[in-house]
Amino acid sequence: MTIRAVVRGVGHYLPARVVPNAEFETRLDTTDEWIRTRTGIERRHFAAEGETTSDLGAKAAEAALADAGLAAADLDAIVLATSTADLTFPAAATMVQQKIGMTNGFAFDVQAVCAGFVFALANANALIQSGQARRVLVIGAETFSRILDFEDRGTCVLFGDGAGAVVLEAAEGKGTAADRGILATDLHSDGSYRDLLYVDGGVSTTGTAGQVRMQGNQVFRHAVEKLAETAHAALDKAGLSGADVDWIVPHQANLRIIAATAQRMQVPMERVVVTVQDHGNTSAASIPLALSVGKARGQIKEGDLIVTEAIGGGLSWGAVVLRW
Ligand code: UT7
Repeated sequence: MTIRAVVRGVGHYLPARVVPNAEFETRLDTTDEWIRTRTGIERRHFAAEGETTSDLGAKAAEAALADAGLAAADLDAIVLATSTADLTFPAAATMVQQKIGMTNGFAFDVQAVCAGFVFALANANALIQSGQARRVLVIGAETFSRILDFEDRGTCVLFGDGAGAVVLEAAEGKGTAADRGILATDLHSDGSYRDLLYVDGGVSTTGTAGQVRMQGNQVFRHAVEKLAETAHAALDKAGLSGADVDWIVPHQANLRIIAATAQRMQVPMERVVVTVQDHGNTSAASIPLALSVGKARGQIKEGDLIVTEAIGGGLSWGAVVLRW
């Protein structure tokens, strides 16, 4: 018998304000055409003043719990991936815990920037497989609009705010790739690439939140190479290949990266969930948002084999193979 972490529910939340590319044309040397053709992004959502990462995360959490038919009291743990927590501490996960009315269990944040949800899923899977938790709410939630330099056209047009969540539950599997649940994970970091993508402030340096700095074309090069590698490695661990994949649910940073990764995995674009046009890059929230939207669109169905893959600041990157 193998314990598997099976997805019981999924949900998401997007702030009400939609910002089309055209809004950037009025105050920056950029065009809707450049943003669309270089990134695939058409619009993104920005949180309202006073609306925080834990507000978005709590709404996504409630949607995922409703989808699972479960209450907050049924959960053992919350793992929340974010780089834009409400406060330096406590963890945004504990704020979500309070907002959804959960008084039992434990809650903590995971910080792996855009790869955060993949890292959070792997951590939740380990908690479940080791018997430390039976039901874990895994959230990706971000308010990247708060750390953007709106004078820097190379970054501010790329990111958006939002949140997505899944409820994982322990189930007995046979230990084969036919099991539902998380089948394999593959995680990597290499801190020598720090300067390619970082925030230029922090508690123990400037004492400020700072703003996003990125050498976009360098990150692009690493993304195209490393995402297909980690996806293949995770599939290998599960005893599967690209031919077995029903859906790639990639981190949504750039349509050209998504397409290049799918091509390297020999998976056609018809089997890739794409939401970047509507959300922009929502960092740790992008994969759970895409899982939720993909299910709502009727793309993702029970039994489908899914590969998620992501790369972000660190650099940190990884992939998770799961059967829905
Ligand atoms: O989620 C975390 C991981 N992050 C990513 O995966 C992002 C990875 N990188 C990318 O998606 C792309 O590199 C970008 C979309 C950021 C940039 O696309 P690119 O094709 O790599 O362009 P580039 O950085 O090489 O810049 C090409 C030109 C430059 O002008 P010059 O030097 O050739 O005159 C830039 O200044 O495009 C210019 N440029 C812009 N032009 C109009 C950069 N941003 C803009 C803009 N509007 N918003």
